[in-house]
Amino acid sequence: MEERIKEIVQEATGAIREATTLEEVEHCRITYLGRKGQLTQIFKEMGKVDKEEKKVIGPAANKAKNTLEQLIEEKKQGVQEQALHQRLQAETIDVTEPGTKMELGKKHPINLMIEKISGFFSDMGYSIADGPHVESVYNAFDALNSPENHPSRDKTDTFYISKDTVLRPHTSSVQIRTLLEEKPPIKVISPGRCFRCDTPDATHSPMFHQIEGLLVDENVTMADLKGTLDGLAKELFGEGTRTKFRPHHFPFTEPSAEMDVSCFQCGGSGCRICKDSGWIEILGCGMVHPNVLKVGGIDSEKYTGFAFGMGVERIAMLKYEIEDIRLFYENDMRFIQQFK
Ligand code: DAH
Repeated sequence: MEERIKEIVQEATGAIREATTLEEVEHCRITYLGRKGQLTQIFKEMGKVDKEEKKVIGPAANKAKNTLEQLIEEKKQGVQEQALHQRLQAETIDVTEPGTKMELGKKHPINLMIEKISGFFSDMGYSIADGPHVESVYNAFDALNSPENHPSRDKTDTFYISKDTVLRPHTSSVQIRTLLEEKPPIKVISPGRCFRCDTPDATHSPMFHQIEGLLVDENVTMADLKGTLDGLAKELFGEGTRTKFRPHHFPFTEPSAEMDVSCFQCGGSGCRICKDSGWIEILGCGMVHPNVLKVGGIDSEKYTGFAFGMGVERIAMLKYEIEDIRLFYENDMRFIQQFK
């Protein structure tokens, strides 16, 4: 019987060691220490053996029982710790890792459009100027010759942070920062985010992107403005694209215009995209108002300049035939990875 106890302990030790789950450990306990377990059987049989043998077997069986109980307890703890460790590892979030990764070489259509337009201007020697999203009312409106009662200054149109601070409603404020920092010749573009109190729908978003342009030098004329922006239109929509400048009003330019491009879809005969007019409006522009040059301490008798501003989403929507502006911000990878 002593021999059998040894065998049971040996076999049980091996089985417990190999168990990897709580179920397996419990199975070991039942097999050796359960009601019908192998070691329990020994205790039952002990009633039949004589006193002398019992003196030897009794302590051996008790020792075996204690050993196995201890092994099982230790194994249980080990398995639980291991499971916890694995769970923690599986649930740990690497906060430095991007949630979703763009496929190599793919770009968000807004970035792609900003790069295309910036590329065109940087090839012509423009540099990139930057400005803050939180801007002074002075830079966003007053310095841009915008009268106190201009509708865009209303709290229903522009997000006010305080009486004299706004979320910039256009990138034109970078014109002022540039004029104050640089001396002519000035040649900059400034892409970036803008904010307006618009309820989101298919064509409006309270946050969107613009690209501003500003050139100031001696003898700059409207012909320079037209030539530059006509080149941009051909670059974006194809060599055959024609442009048309319609008189318009902006406080910071005089004269001011809006530029239309001939419809790249129908070529001008009229279709759904150009709403049957043959033309599509893509930007605002004009000759920099002397009052704006004055703010920057630039002699408006000696220097003239032109400026323009365009909506990146609008141009991307036209070019890629995207019907809803909200698609840009939902970050559905199937959508944003389609563009080249
Ligand atoms: N800031 C104008 C807007 O948000 C766009 C614009 C028009 C910018 C004419 C200009 C410009 O620089 O000359 O609608």
